[in-house]
Amino acid sequence: MRIIFVLAAAAVGGILAVTTAFGGDDNVPPISDAVVQEECSACHFAFQPAFLPAESWSKMMGGLEDHFGEDASLSETVRDNIEAYLVANAGRGNVDPQNPPLRITELRWFKSEHSEREAQRMMERLDVKSLLSCGACHQGAERGIYDDD
Ligand code: HEC
Ligand code: HEC
Repeated sequence: MRIIFVLAAAAVGGILAVTTAFGGDDNVPPISDAVVQEECSACHFAFQPAFLPAESWSKMMGGLEDHFGEDASLSETVRDNIEAYLVANAGRGNVDPQNPPLRITELRWFKSEHSEREAQRMMERLDVKSLLSCGACHQGAERGIYDDD
């Protein structure tokens, strides 16, 4: 519990920043590396590195052949480059280096910002199939997340 709590506290900066990240401010900049953007958006939204700490990215990048049940392996050079980018731009938080969180969606701040009822309602309204499609709801004015407030 404590580990998650610390990370959640650290993520508060990210929380305030994301609206702006998707809305044009650069507190949590969008991915600026074309290779990361391409390789990590093949199956889902390319998550910004600031949403997980460095330990999480390293662990994830060390196990791409079984990435949540999918084979997402890459050549060694590409893998190394992507890991370096993710780590350099990672969020902060004290996590157990042996067992860092791998899912943004399971972090406490994420769950509290996306309460089941609210998120479900919005997913239906915008016809979004998965909570992992961050950009479908968070992309600034066109389909602003605040329309619903
Ligand atoms: C071959 C498809 C594929 C590729 C390529 C891929 N992923 Fe994934 N990723 C998945 C699947 C499948 C899941 C689990 C989805 C689910 O639970 O609905 C996932 C989940 C994740 C999650 C956890 C999301 C959450 O919070 O629940 C992160 C973080 C992630 N991927 C990062 C990456 C990164 C970084 C890359 C690029 C190196 C990448 N993925 C490339 C298929 C892929
Ligand atoms: C179905 C629509 C939807 C999806 C998909 C979604 N979110 Fe959200 N998100 C919301 C709503 C609604 C809020 C609450 C906004 C509020 O209360 O002001 C929110 C809040 C947030 C916040 C808190 C700061 C803010 O902007 O208010 C962050 C950070 C965030 N989401 C990140 C993400 C990330 C990262 C993903 C993908 C892993 C994601 N969201 C996916 C709808 C969504």
